[in-house]
Amino acid sequence: MADPVPERMELEFDTVAGWTGHAVAELGDDHAEPAACRGSASPAGLDWLAARCGLRPGDLLADVGGGTGGPAAYARRTTGAAPVVIDPMPAACRAAATMFGLPAVVGGGDALPLATASVRACWNLGVLCTVRDKAAVLAEAHRVLRPGGSLGLLVFVADRPRPPGAPDGNLFPARTAVHELLAAAGFARTAEVALTELPPAPAAWRQRIDRVESVLDRDHGDDPRFAAAQEQSRRIGALIADGVVEGRLLHATAR
Ligand SMILES: C[S@@+](CC[C@H](N)C(=O)[O-])C[C@H]1O[C@@H](n2cnc3c(N)ncnc32)[C@H](O)[C@@H]1O
Repeated sequence: MADPVPERMELEFDTVAGWTGHAVAELGDDHAEPAACRGSASPAGLDWLAARCGLRPGDLLADVGGGTGGPAAYARRTTGAAPVVIDPMPAACRAAATMFGLPAVVGGGDALPLATASVRACWNLGVLCTVRDKAAVLAEAHRVLRPGGSLGLLVFVADRPRPPGAPDGNLFPARTAVHELLAAAGFARTAEVALTELPPAPAAWRQRIDRVESVLDRDHGDDPRFAAAQEQSRRIGALIADGVVEGRLLHATAR
């Protein structure tokens, strides 16, 4: 059984994720990818991951905790890979299917609905810091990957699991703990970079995110669920800006 998702996280990853699909329907398809990349990976970060994973047309890519499908859609468009989104939040999966026509399955990262040794690449972007049992999620990624298959990670790390001001539900691993967890799950690390070492998202990408945010604010600004989800995002944004939490991209292969 996947860990229960704390209520505020559910608001951010399910309720608001579903509303995002409606905002994109109003603003146009070119807003879908920026709005649906909710793990803070920019195009440069996704390009870095896709290149390290060697994604090619037709490669099956399991995007675990794939949310509303932005990274998966970006990978499909830029590499021709064939992604499937797996996420415990039903509204997020519906949004991924509606916005991008992606196969999206409701499920937890510790019990993937995929056969053993069946996928070429697995992504797990902004997910490890939201789950308690990180070892179980990595073990399950290892199970579904073919030997030599690629794991792409975006992990938010910190010196302690819950620094002051942490969003509800987040448990940040230390950087060294991520390395140890990967090795214990049977992965060999091949590359790692801080998000801050890569170029920021282009202005047009950020403007589209801002427009989607404006529509959400217009339609749901008075809704306490929206305020709670915004507070979650604000908190992690502040910790990243202060250098307390750092986003890191990693590539590893299944031994
Ligand atoms: C910060 S969001 C990132 C979404 C997406 N990967 C992206 O980069 O846009 C974290 C995601 O992890 C999902 N999640 C939470 N608990 C999970 C679990 N036990 N297994 C898999 N995914 C989980 C949430 O539903 C949410 O979609």
